[in-house]
Amino acid sequence: MENPFKYGTVVEAEYFTDRVEEVKYIHQFIQGPNHLILISPRRFGKSSVVAKAIGESGRKSITVNLQQVVSVADMAAKILREFFKVHPLERVRHLITHFRIIPTITTNALTGTMDVSFQPGVDATMLLEDVMDLMEKAHNETDRLIVVLDEFQEILELDSRLDKKLRAIMQKQKHINYILLGSQESMMTEIFEKKKSPFYHFGELMRLGKLPRNDFHNYLSVRLKNCFPDKHDSLADHILDYTGCHPYYSQQLASNVWQIGMLQPEQDDVIHVAVDRIVTTHGFDYERLWMNFNRTNKWILRCLATNSPLQTGEHRTSTIYSALKRLQQNGYVIYTNGYELEDPFFREWILREL
Ligand SMILES: Nc1ncnc2c1ncn2[C@@H]1O[C@H](COP(=O)(O)OP(=O)(O)OP(=O)(O)O)[C@@H](O)[C@H]1O
Ligand SMILES: [Mg+2]
Repeated sequence: MENPFKYGTVVEAEYFTDRVEEVKYIHQFIQGPNHLILISPRRFGKSSVVAKAIGESGRKSITVNLQQVVSVADMAAKILREFFKVHPLERVRHLITHFRIIPTITTNALTGTMDVSFQPGVDATMLLEDVMDLMEKAHNETDRLIVVLDEFQEILELDSRLDKKLRAIMQKQKHINYILLGSQESMMTEIFEKKKSPFYHFGELMRLGKLPRNDFHNYLSVRLKNCFPDKHDSLADHILDYTGCHPYYSQQLASNVWQIGMLQPEQDDVIHVAVDRIVTTHGFDYERLWMNFNRTNKWILRCLATNSPLQTGEHRTSTIYSALKRLQQNGYVIYTNGYELEDPFFREWILREL
C-alpha cells in the first residue's frame, strides 16, 4: 500500500487539501492584466497553490526558480528553455530571428527538452530583454502567458541593477501575467513595498498562511484510518499540535506515523517513535547547523524552543531584534502569531540537547 502522505515537492490532486479561497482568488486574479506577488515562509505551499490555480485556468505558463540561476545570462537561458516547453521551436523560430544574439539550441536526447545556451561574454541584459520580448510577442491580450518566477528576491543577488532593468522590460509588456514568489519576507517587502524600489507596488501582494486546522485534521485523519481504526482522530490532533499546522512538517510527521502503523501495529506511542525517527535521521545536520550559530543565536534558538521570554536583560533589545531578523532571513525562524522555530524537529533536537 502506498504512503498517503507526500512532502518535499509540489502537491496536487489527492495530496492537495484546502486553499479553496486562495486558488479561487489566484485563478480569478490572473484573468485580469495584473501581476501577483505571493509571500510565505519556505514550504508553506506557494508552488502548490499557484500550480493548482494555473492548472485550473488551463493557460500556458512557465516557471523558473531564481535560486537555481547563477547569472543574468543563465536566467535568460532558463526562461527560454521553459518557453520552448509551451511553444515548440518550429512555431516561434521566426521570432528568434529578431534576437540580437542568437542562442544555441539543442535537443536533449535524454529528456527530449530543448537546451539553451548563449555565447559567453555577451551583454546579458540584452539576452534577457530579447527573451522577454519573445514571450510578449508570442502572446496577445486575450491569451496572456503566465510567468512564475520563484524565489524572486534573488534578483537582488544576481546583479546589482537587475531590479531596475527587469522592471523597465516588464513595464512595457501587456501579454504576460507575472506571479512572483518569495520566501524571504523582509527582502520581498523591500522589493515591493519600499517607495524607491523599482518594483514598488508592481502587483497585488498576497500572503500564504499555514493550513487551516479543521480541514488539515480531516485530511490526516481520513488517511490514518486504515492503520489506526481506533485512534486516527486523536493522532491527527497530536500531529497538528506538534507541528502547529505547518503544511510540510505535518505531512512529514503523518507519513512517518503511517509507516510505523504499517510496520509495527502494536506500537503504542506512535507520535513519539515517529518524532524520534525524524530527529535521529536529521541529527547530524542539526548538529552541524548548531555548531555554526554564534552564541547569541544559540541563546535565541533555545529561548524559542523552550518558549522562554527573550527580553530578560541578558542581551540588548536591538541585538536580539537584528539576530532574529537574520535568523528569519535564513529560514530558521518564522513569524506567524509570534516568533517560532521553523522546524519543529530541530526544536525537538535543541530540547534534547539541553
Ligand atoms: N495544500 C496543501 N495540501 C497538503 N499539503 C500541502 C499543501 N501545500 C503544501 N503542502 C505540503 O507542503 C510541502 C511544500 O509545498 P510547496 O513545495 O508547494 O511549498 P513552497 O512554499 O513552494 O515551498 P518552497 O519554499 O520549498 O518553494 C508539500 O510537499 C506538502 O507536503
Ligand atoms: Mg516552491
